[in-house]
Amino acid sequence: MKLPSRVKIVDVGPRDGLQNEKGHVPAEVKIGLVHRLQDAGVKEIEVTSFVSPKWVPQMADAAEVMAGIQRRPDVRYSVLTPNMKGFEAAVDSKPDEIVVFGAASEAFSQKNINCSIAESIERFAPVVAAARARGIHVRGAISTTVGCPYEGDVKPERVELVARLMKDIGVQHVGVADTIGVGTPRKVQAAMEAALKHYDIDNVSGHFHDTYGQALGNTLACLEMGIWNYDTSSAGLGGCPYAKGATGNVATEDVVYMLHGMDIETGIDLDKLIDAGKYISDFLQRKPNSRASTAILNKRAG
Ligand code: HMG
Ligand code: MG
Repeated sequence: MKLPSRVKIVDVGPRDGLQNEKGHVPAEVKIGLVHRLQDAGVKEIEVTSFVSPKWVPQMADAAEVMAGIQRRPDVRYSVLTPNMKGFEAAVDSKPDEIVVFGAASEAFSQKNINCSIAESIERFAPVVAAARARGIHVRGAISTTVGCPYEGDVKPERVELVARLMKDIGVQHVGVADTIGVGTPRKVQAAMEAALKHYDIDNVSGHFHDTYGQALGNTLACLEMGIWNYDTSSAGLGGCPYAKGATGNVATEDVVYMLHGMDIETGIDLDKLIDAGKYISDFLQRKPNSRASTAILNKRAG
């Protein structure tokens, strides 16, 4: 066991969380969520995506959302950019970090970004080069690292391949994503090991959707490997439009509750984090999809 003493959380709620919402979420509500997350002490926020509005209508206001945020110097604001068109549109918004997103399964790559894995790397290469030339940090997300909604089980070798391809084009950090939340601890550890063949422990993160209720267990399994970067979603919002039936990322509130209980530092104020999740859940007219949030809100009410 080499548990880290601190963990960095990237709250992906405004992006991964909201991208799948059918109803219109106004830019000011998205901005309100970002503000509440940074007030709670979240130091990295995945704000939005510069993708085709035909593919993901909810992210069509990407520039407006980025422009409306009152930034803090100690917070990193990231955005997804799948190609040069997305990158060029994102640059004016001055993101601190961009995310290129590929997949370990061919079928998911085709469905999500309309190209093969090899083609995706060709598209990402100029994006990565342009970002790095401007001093913008580059993260890569690898989807379907344990299972694919179209191909079933995905082998760790596939993850290793995509991690290597991303490393070759200059991606600085990779997120190992269980897009459909089918992973269990040993499988997720194997996917992580594959990414660790090309990236050091400080530059690999976990991104676990919680469809089968495994995401917290998977997070603990990765903590035991020393992995200290995780993407989580406020109030457990979300899902990917091209992974039907998959639910949101593990709730930030649940991960923070677990980490603080293990004396692992996050810099996050759990009470304020609960308020952020409650704010967006109230707007969406549903309860936060977080057990820790439910418990704490019940306690407050009682
Ligand atoms: P394409 O259709 O292959 O692109 O889409 P194209 O280059 O052929 O262009 C077609 C049209 O799209 C053109 O417009 C382009 O201008 C436009 P038209 O001439 O027809 O009017 N276009 C764009 N518009 C705005 N922004 C852009 C852009 N690029 C082209 N950047 C593309 C390729 C990648 C754009 C498309 O497939 C797409 O937008 N896909 C969306 C994918 C997405 O956002 N998925 C969800 C995020 S990933 C995720 O959730 C997984 C993650 O959380 C990890 C995990 O859990 O696994 C990260
Ligand atoms: Mg995701």
